[in-house]
Amino acid sequence: AVTRTFSIIKPDATRRNLTGAVTAKLEEAGLRVVASKRIQMSQEQAEGFYAVHKERPFFGELVSFMISGPVVVQVLEGENAMQANRDIMGATNPKDAAEGTIRKLFAESIEANTVHGSDSDENAAVEIAYFFKPEEIVG
Ligand code: CMP
Repeated sequence: AVTRTFSIIKPDATRRNLTGAVTAKLEEAGLRVVASKRIQMSQEQAEGFYAVHKERPFFGELVSFMISGPVVVQVLEGENAMQANRDIMGATNPKDAAEGTIRKLFAESIEANTVHGSDSDENAAVEIAYFFKPEEIVG
């Protein structure tokens, strides 16, 4: 089925001017960008977005990194979009990421790993609604 997922192009990628290169990989993987905006996340916004990781030892650094520069939040649409996006992103740690994946090609570290992608359809819906109004998404 054609579904939607949520993606963030992280500050390490915007800093290196890789927004287009990352988006090209998403499009090559059959995903369509149906909403996109470049934003500077506030600390409160980043803490809320990553609330599920609040107890993790890396939470503070994760939030600091995600507000260290602009990000591009996107809604992606395609056949089984959540899984298609996870496949093209590659493993969280670039050391474990498969050849040809976005994180293998571009990520600097497990923290500065270029992209975020939703890990379930349920979370995708929650994450999309966190950043986008329905009318901002044009399929
Ligand atoms: P993301 O998909 O954005 O969701 C949580 C993020 O925490 C993850 O990608 C990583 O970039 C980041 N992170 C930082 N340190 C770690 C770590 N030690 N283990 C897992 N994730 C980490």
